[in-house]
Amino acid sequence: MQIQLDSVSPLSIQADALITFAFEKDDPLEGPLAEFDRATSGRLRELVAAHELTGKWLEMVLLHYPAGVQAKRLLVVGAGKPEKFGNGELRRLAGAALRHLKSRGAKRIAFLLREPRQDAGAAQLVAEGLLLAELDLDKYKTDKKNSAGVEHAAILGATGDAARSIERARIIAESENWARDVANEPSNRLTPTVLAERAAQMARESGLEVAIYGEKQIETMKMGALLGVARGSAEPPRLIVLTYNPPEPEPKPGAPVLGLVGKAITFDTGGISIKPSKAMDRMKYDMCGGVTMLAVMRAIARLKPSIKVVAVVPSTENMPGGRAVKPGDILVSMSGKTIEVLNTDAEGRLILSDGLFYARQLGATHLVDAATLTGAIVVALSNVNVGVFGSQDDFTRRFLDVARAAGEKMWHMPVDDDYRDMMKSPIADLQNISSGEGGGASSAAAFLKEFTGDLPWIHLDIAATAWLDDPKPWMAKGATGVAIRSLVDFTETF
Ligand code: BES
Ligand code: MN
Ligand code: ZN
Repeated sequence: MQIQLDSVSPLSIQADALITFAFEKDDPLEGPLAEFDRATSGRLRELVAAHELTGKWLEMVLLHYPAGVQAKRLLVVGAGKPEKFGNGELRRLAGAALRHLKSRGAKRIAFLLREPRQDAGAAQLVAEGLLLAELDLDKYKTDKKNSAGVEHAAILGATGDAARSIERARIIAESENWARDVANEPSNRLTPTVLAERAAQMARESGLEVAIYGEKQIETMKMGALLGVARGSAEPPRLIVLTYNPPEPEPKPGAPVLGLVGKAITFDTGGISIKPSKAMDRMKYDMCGGVTMLAVMRAIARLKPSIKVVAVVPSTENMPGGRAVKPGDILVSMSGKTIEVLNTDAEGRLILSDGLFYARQLGATHLVDAATLTGAIVVALSNVNVGVFGSQDDFTRRFLDVARAAGEKMWHMPVDDDYRDMMKSPIADLQNISSGEGGGASSAAAFLKEFTGDLPWIHLDIAATAWLDDPKPWMAKGATGVAIRSLVDFTETF
């Protein structure tokens, strides 16, 4: 889909559909809507009187061949209450409009921005929402109903340097869609080997440094926790390392280096502590944290922030093979810390322990990890907020502020020392499940924290938010690409 700014008047733009939005107010017909009402000799006013146009959130009012308007259709989308209309809402509204029109065969659309959102940032949100809404899960359908999709979108009514914002939206949204496309692959088509190949290809196209390590090298590196999880699988593990170097001038010695670590379990059966079969298919999504970090690298390779960033993505299946790690086994992690594996289904923290430690060895001064880590985060926050844990409150808050501005819902969760005490093993340094009751997302985070040294560190538990079981009006079912845009914005705060 091409996206362009246009300054044609809304009444005279040629398109299959012209989109704008109305707020839920006593009189939703203000701004451009009053103009459309005059052009159509009061059609909109009639719809308001009939309570068909109320401005209610994501209400879709579609007029065909509206008189006085060149576009073939006018779509007025409900924006809800103005005080609840933030960045996330504008992005979702644009996406919902696109999906509504896509299923009706529109090829050329126009989106009219209106007060109070006409700035360059608004154009970026709309462009991003449109691009994210395009992706559909029809790759393995031999009969593709909606394959053609919208070809061209014009954005009208923008002020400021909106062309640059649209370019930025495209970079971020295409990276999110890259991630969603990879994450949607089933595990037989996306083994650790294939994930590494896709990462390497993306890295080469993006101008990133790439290193892929196989089983032998992972052994030489003494990543005993990653190897322990990989033992049960016939598929060999991979360690994916991407590096972004900022443009000249060379960063000064002592300049910060951001380490991004992501969990990439291409399928999580639970291992010997096997999961119940109900909805186990979902566990093909267990590489979303790793793919998130790869997508962030894809975007920053193009946006060129001024900080060096290394991404470390350990990848393996978690399978109950004949050589699999068993409950009670003890693993020696790369850091030297010993771990008693009491439940082989708590595998994410094992592979991340080696990933986090390795990122430090590569010179990271700040760490962020993302992982579909715990079912407990689903209990705590449902599929609404990302769980955010951190070792230094000012650093964590800086990230939360960026996420809020990016329109992503995230919530600060505790990871104090009392949770760490629940992860102490009587016979090894740590055990991989908590000896305490409840708080499983926090004790998992406390386990990870043991491998971060004194570095400022943030952990994102995306287990509940990385995947949609049912489609949303603005997004297909499947991987969501959550946290990518916040992380991209965050790299620019250094
Ligand atoms: N990948 C899962 C997390 C998960 C579980 C996501 C359920 C969505 C739904 C992770 O590897 C896992 O299995 N975690 C266990 C940990 C437990 C054994 C301490 C969990 O949360 O049940
Ligand atoms: Mn598991
Ligand atoms: Zn898992």
